[in-house]
Amino acid sequence: MPDQTASRRRLFRHVPACLLALLPLVLLACSSDQYPQTTLHPRADYAREADNIFRVTLIAATVVFVLVEGALLLAMWKFRNRPGAAEPVQTHGNTTLEIVWTIIPAFILAMIAVPTVRTIFKTATKPGPEALQVEVIGHQWWWEFKYPQLGITTAGELKVPAGRTVSLEMTTKDVLHSFWVPAFAGKRDVFPNRYNNLWFKAEVTGNFPAQCVEFCGLQHSKMAYRIISVDSTEFDAWAAGFNSPPPDFSADTTAANAEARAGEAIFKGKGACAGCHSMVPALPLTGPNLHHVGSRSHIAAGTLVNTDENLAGWIKDPQAWKKGVLMIVPPLTDEEIRSVVAYLRANK
Ligand code: CUA
Repeated sequence: MPDQTASRRRLFRHVPACLLALLPLVLLACSSDQYPQTTLHPRADYAREADNIFRVTLIAATVVFVLVEGALLLAMWKFRNRPGAAEPVQTHGNTTLEIVWTIIPAFILAMIAVPTVRTIFKTATKPGPEALQVEVIGHQWWWEFKYPQLGITTAGELKVPAGRTVSLEMTTKDVLHSFWVPAFAGKRDVFPNRYNNLWFKAEVTGNFPAQCVEFCGLQHSKMAYRIISVDSTEFDAWAAGFNSPPPDFSADTTAANAEARAGEAIFKGKGACAGCHSMVPALPLTGPNLHHVGSRSHIAAGTLVNTDENLAGWIKDPQAWKKGVLMIVPPLTDEEIRSVVAYLRANK
């Protein structure tokens, strides 16, 4: 007997330490700032629908866990071995019990299936023409966004108006990718020659990270993008001004623009950037359209903050940041790179 008491005491001594070890995990779940790609803080109707199912399922699973584990612990305690106890009656099979423990889980699963199936059908619907239409095209390894109603083509950043439903028609130019906007909606795989749809209505404004979630080659992990949700006035102003022509320095002789002018010449000439990237609205080329690249929050498919330093490093040696990236840049001097950065920055 003293033996048993001692070992029990030893066991319970570890309980506070275990709870303490679990605390960081619980706190991690609460902090969405550090983990912006969390799905636990939905910021759109679609994400909220999915989150509701998760929460209902989690609550049901917790209740089941507590009941089952509680019954198990109770049985272990109540029917524990005692010194001199006789061997318990041996049984095999209990039809009533087996029917009950088959029916109860089946009933619980059916209860979870009802909202799940309802949400699957609801989220598979396609919004009407009043929604903002966006065509999403996956490329190795960046995302292209076209707004057919507005005649806008851009890349890396999907600008959306908060409070208005955005209807995405999604496909890919090459291999399979998967579009995931954790704060606003779920995941959708994209396939060549096929269109999948996804929609959401952003509830808040802000700049949110998003990510390709289907392995699509060497740089899959750096095939990110940003969702930039702005209020409707700001969105309308952005859309109205988007297709204004980019700055053209070729005929500009002012001294202040000398660096940008040199950059433009390199962009169109020695750098061969213009072979793949357009600085003009909606001109289709193989690389991401760079109109307004100067004011984007991120470059390199949403993976680098758009600072002059990052932009210069990216142009100097894209392979250093994204091994296997399809962008080929001929060797440029630091001064030439500075000029190209000045030219890109000028296209705000
Ligand atoms: Cu595209 Cu992974």
